[in-house]
Amino acid sequence: MRRCRLVVLISGSGSNLQALIDACSTEDFPASIAAVISNRPDAGGLERARGAGIPTAVVDHKSFPDRFDFDRALLHEIDRYEPELVVLAGFMRILSADFVRHYAARLMNIHPSLLPLYPGLHTHQRALEAGDTAHGATVHFVSEELDGGPAIVQSRVPVHAADTAETLAARVLLQEHRIYPHAVRLFAEGRLQLHNGRALLDGDALPAAGLLFPG
Ligand code: GRF
Repeated sequence: MRRCRLVVLISGSGSNLQALIDACSTEDFPASIAAVISNRPDAGGLERARGAGIPTAVVDHKSFPDRFDFDRALLHEIDRYEPELVVLAGFMRILSADFVRHYAARLMNIHPSLLPLYPGLHTHQRALEAGDTAHGATVHFVSEELDGGPAIVQSRVPVHAADTAETLAARVLLQEHRIYPHAVRLFAEGRLQLHNGRALLDGDALPAAGLLFPG
């Protein structure tokens, strides 16, 4: 089986990376991780990649005078691995429009909210403060607007009265680890495309919120 070449970008613990490593290790998963690149040298996810025998690289944003130089260095490092899909997995840098345009329809991100609700940071706290009864995570194609690209897959979880941001985040994270491999599989199978700003599955436009992943 031909496997879609992935490069995964991380900044932290890499639990989403681990979910993708586990998925790629199964016989029938149509993708493989060519490299893991972090902007932080101390990212725990680098250890996960090394443990799986996956090449790693660090492009430390602190080593560059500005975003432009960082993005350019990151882009050149990524392209060394000739990815068919670049996967942002807990990657905490805002990428420039030039970077996004370079990867166009082959750049995905996961965001811990039911987009378009709560783009940006502290999504769980914001959902709690809003009194939401449902929350969740969204995998989306990356556009030039922060957390704004078309949704691919979304999973919802209930919010419990006793929830804290931490308990809610943990419930959402479990769903993240299910929907990201699902979205990557659909792309790797050639079923999922980004076309004219819309996510298409088997040629049909997905709903604005993407596929609702079975709870
Ligand atoms: C996750 O909530 C993810 O949605 C957000 O960063 C958090 C940590 O991700 N982007 P990971 O454990 O590093 O994959």
